[in-house]
Amino acid sequence: MDLLQIIRRRRSIRAFQERPIPDEVLDDLIEALRWAPSAGNLQSRFFYFVFDRKIREQLAEAALAQEFVAQAPLVVVACADRRIARTYGRRGTELYMIQDVAASVQNMLLVAHALGLGSVWVGAFDEERVRALLDIPEHLRPAAIVPVGYPAEQPAPSPRIPKSRLVKMVRS
Ligand SMILES: Cc1cc2nc3c(=O)[nH]c(=O)nc-3n(C[C@H](O)[C@H](O)[C@H](O)COP(=O)(O)O)c2cc1C
Repeated sequence: MDLLQIIRRRRSIRAFQERPIPDEVLDDLIEALRWAPSAGNLQSRFFYFVFDRKIREQLAEAALAQEFVAQAPLVVVACADRRIARTYGRRGTELYMIQDVAASVQNMLLVAHALGLGSVWVGAFDEERVRALLDIPEHLRPAAIVPVGYPAEQPAPSPRIPKSRLVKMVRS
């Protein structure tokens, strides 16, 4: 698949098979996280890969009872690292660290899709509950929860706004 096709065909998947994810595929997901761009190449991000069923269920509850989170064999909790981002002052901690982790997450969603996996970016969750569950230190801010697994659904594409409402061409 070419890259644009992967981008176009990726869908949020909210139903998963129990089939485990092979180690070499996990390595590819980690490479996708690693190679995302970041402000000043500071890479102010950190990821928890959660396989434990009990903790996955608790993460699903912390994600406002989005039960599909627990169904995936892997749940990635993506965090922004304040301690690293502080190098750039307020802009670092308010903006860059979130962008750094977001770039990694998007890379992972695309690689997951290219490898036949499904995933969904989950942003609705109680940060402090997630922090407590994984004993996440203060300098990390949980920014996204991403369940990953082989898909058990094939959703239709969701609509996108037309190009005319998305882009303004500025030419001389
Ligand atoms: C920042 C962010 C937060 C999101 N939070 C949730 C969420 O809490 N639960 C959920 O089911 N989907 C969530 N999504 C997924 C979106 O609903 C989904 O990307 C959107 O509807 C477009 O569908 P598609 O991903 O299939 O193209 C989130 C996506 C983003 C980027």
